[in-house]
Amino acid sequence: MKSQLGTLATELKRKIEAREARIGIVGMGYVGLPLALLFSEEKFRVTGFDIDNRKVEALNAGGSYIVRIPGTEIQGAQKSGFSATADYGKISEMDAVIICVPTPLNEFHEPDLSYITQTVDAIAPRLREGQIVILESTTYPGTTEEVVVPLLEKGNAKGLKVARAEDEGDFFVAFSPEREDPGNDTVARRDIPKVVGGVGKLASEIAAAVYGTIFNRTVPVSSPAAAEMTKLLENIYRCVNIALVNELKQLCHRMDIDIFEVIDAAKTKPFGFQAFYPGPGLGGHCIPIDPFYLSWKAKQFDFRTKFIELAGEVNIAMPYYVIDKTVEALNQHKKSLNGSKVLVLGLAYKKDIDDLRESPSLTIIELLRKGGAEVFYNDPFFAKVGHGRHYDLNMTNTPLENLGQYDAVLIVTDHSDYDYQRIVKESKLVVDSRNATKGITSEKIVRC
Ligand SMILES: NC(=O)c1ccc[n+]([C@@H]2O[C@H](COP(=O)([O-])OP(=O)(O)OC[C@H]3O[C@@H](n4cnc5c(N)ncnc54)[C@H](O)[C@@H]3O)[C@@H](O)[C@H]2O)c1
Repeated sequence: MKSQLGTLATELKRKIEAREARIGIVGMGYVGLPLALLFSEEKFRVTGFDIDNRKVEALNAGGSYIVRIPGTEIQGAQKSGFSATADYGKISEMDAVIICVPTPLNEFHEPDLSYITQTVDAIAPRLREGQIVILESTTYPGTTEEVVVPLLEKGNAKGLKVARAEDEGDFFVAFSPEREDPGNDTVARRDIPKVVGGVGKLASEIAAAVYGTIFNRTVPVSSPAAAEMTKLLENIYRCVNIALVNELKQLCHRMDIDIFEVIDAAKTKPFGFQAFYPGPGLGGHCIPIDPFYLSWKAKQFDFRTKFIELAGEVNIAMPYYVIDKTVEALNQHKKSLNGSKVLVLGLAYKKDIDDLRESPSLTIIELLRKGGAEVFYNDPFFAKVGHGRHYDLNMTNTPLENLGQYDAVLIVTDHSDYDYQRIVKESKLVVDSRNATKGITSEKIVRC
C-alpha cells in the first residue's frame, strides 16, 4: 500500500502533468521573471512574489522592466493567469514554490544569505503538506539542507517535516541551478538542460517533473549539494579561464602579439580547447561572486581554493590595467589623465544587455575620476547611473556626438549597435578593451 507521502507525491505529479499545479516564483528579477514566463507559456497559472512593489505594480499593469522582455510577453502570461504580488499569504495556494532571490557577497566578501533566509522565513509559516520548495539562487553546497530545510521545519507551526525517505515527511525540497546566459540567444531556454537535486528521491522526481514541463531535458543528481556544486563548478570554470586569458593578454601586449588572433587560431582545434576572451574585468551577478561562495565554504573543511583566489586576483586587477593603458595612450598624445576628457563607451557588464551589476565600467569610471579626468559615458541601455552597492556615480548618458571633443574614447562594453568605424573616424584616440575595433586599421586605436 502507498504511504501518505507517496499519495501526496503522486497527486502533485498528476497536477503538474495536467498543468493544474499552481507555480509560485519568489523574486521577479532577471532569473525569476523569465522562468515565470516559461511556465505561463506552458499554461500553468503562475504567481510572482516580490518585495519590490514597483516591480509588482509594473507586472500587474502588463509592463516589463527588463529590456529584453517586451511587455507583450507579460500580457500574454496574464492571459494564462499570471499575476504578481508582495503578499506572502498566497504561498499556501501554490503547489511548487521556486526561490530566485539574490545571493550577493557582504562587505567582507562572504556569502550574504539574508535574502534566502528572509524568503524562507516568510514561506515557512504558510507551508502546507504536499508542496515542493525549490531553491534556484546560486549558493554554496549545503545551503539547501543546512539552511533552507531547518528554517522551513522550524518556522511552520504545524510541525511539518521535509520528506527525506519515501515514507516519512510532509513536504518536498530541492535545489536546481539557473543556467541562463543573458544576451545569448543561440540556445533556446528550453534546450538548456536543467540540473535537479532533491532532498530524497521523491523530491528529485517531483522537481524533475516540474522542470520537465518547460525544459527538454532534466539532469537529476544525487543531492541538493551536488546540484549546488554543479553550478559553482560551471561558474568557476568560466572565472578561471577568463583570468587565464586576461593574464595572457597582458603578456601578449608586452610581446606585441595579438591575443585575439591567437585565440581565433587556437579555437580551430576541434577538441580540447574552448575559447574564452579577455576583457576589462568581470561583471554580472554570477562570475565575480559565486566562486567566493565556495572559497568561504571550503574554509570549513580546512581547504584553500587557490585557483579561485588567483583567478579573482587577476580579474579584479583588470580595470586597473585598462586605466594604465589609457594613461599610456594619452601620454603618447602628450596628454595627462589629469584634466583629460574621457568618454566611456558602454557601461553594461557585457554587450547588448541592461545589467550594470558588478560591471568593470563602474570601477573604471571611479579610477578615471580619481586620476583627475572629466568623465562622460554613453550606453543605450542606461539614461542615468546613480549609486548602487559599490558605486556612487550620479551621471547621465551623453549622446554619441562630437566625438572629437574627447581626449580619449574608452570602449568598455562592445554593444552591437555602435558604429565602430564612425567612432574611430571621429575620435582623437580610441582605447579598446574589447577588441570591438577588430578589422579596423588606424593609428588612433590602442587595444588593451
Ligand atoms: N542574472 C543571471 O544571469 C543569473 C544567472 C544564473 C543564476 N543567477 C542567480 O539567481 C539568483 C537571482 O538572481 P537575479 O539576477 O534574478 O537577481 P535580481 O536582483 O534580478 O532579482 C531578485 C529579485 O528578488 C527580489 N527579492 C529580494 N528579496 C526578496 C524577498 N525576501 N521576497 C521576495 N522577493 C525578494 C528582488 O526585489 C528582485 O526583484 C541569484 O542567486 C543569482 O546568483 C542569476
